[in-house]
Amino acid sequence: MTDRYAVIGNPIQQSKSPLIHGMFAQATGQDIEYTAIEGPLDRFAGAVDAFRAAGGLGLNITAPFKLDAFAYATERSERAQLAGAVNAMKFDGERVLAENFDGVGLLRDVTHNLGCPLKGKRVLLLGAGGAARGALLPFLGQDPAELVIANRSIDKAHELAAIGARQGRVRGCAYVELVGQSFDVVFNATSASLRGELPPVPATVFAPNCLAYELAYGKGLTPFLRLASNAGVKQLADGVGMLAEQAAEAFVWWRGVRPDTRAVIDKLTVPLVWATGCTEL
Ligand code: ATR
Repeated sequence: MTDRYAVIGNPIQQSKSPLIHGMFAQATGQDIEYTAIEGPLDRFAGAVDAFRAAGGLGLNITAPFKLDAFAYATERSERAQLAGAVNAMKFDGERVLAENFDGVGLLRDVTHNLGCPLKGKRVLLLGAGGAARGALLPFLGQDPAELVIANRSIDKAHELAAIGARQGRVRGCAYVELVGQSFDVVFNATSASLRGELPPVPATVFAPNCLAYELAYGKGLTPFLRLASNAGVKQLADGVGMLAEQAAEAFVWWRGVRPDTRAVIDKLTVPLVWATGCTEL
């Protein structure tokens, strides 16, 4: 019998998950059906109950339901607890297991696909919201020389750094404190790019041979990547690999088979060029 999975969000038509999981299933020979569910804004639990009652085995969760999924779950992984958000669930009778694969997906893209291990590197993480929280533990697990978290609201940067303090060298700071410092890898985990905005990061943060990584996907050359490019950074990446890898982590969790992500990344890659009509910085 075909096993059923889906992604739930609202809106949902923009989701690439059905395409990605369809490609994974075909490549690995897994007999699954993966659909998209537009969850009613005030009835997340009811929509998930109905999916489970119809035999659904697992869900991906996207905006705005990541916190609802956290509340719905009966068991949450450590990384889901730290992120305070859930992006994948697995149903096992009455049990609802919850995970957050965004951070591990990002890490796998950086280390495996982009060939950039974080061990011994000076790493800068811009932002202290949900995306940054998800990356914290996976990053510190790589033993970077230092992880610096910069955020507009400085308190949130310090709070996040305090959470990671037992796992490695991490500190929070304000953007102005970055003046005079440079890093081997810089991640933009703010939501600024979604509105075409640039976090107030000095262009001097990019060390020679730096990797500049934009977590947002499919926006072309965002203001952040543009800043890095103008500063001479040669290695630029957006979140397409992260998107594919977090999906692959869920697929392994559900099916016990790791799909290759290359074909998905190639299919979904949007060239990192400045979109026409955008104002020059
Ligand atoms: P997400 O789940 O995408 O991380 P979020 O939890 O709302 O979204 O967090 C958004 C992050 O982007 C925050 O770190 C926010 O900074 P503040 O905490 O100071 O608000 C950051 N952010 C959003 N727009 C920004 C901008 N224009 N410049 C700098 N940081 C920005």
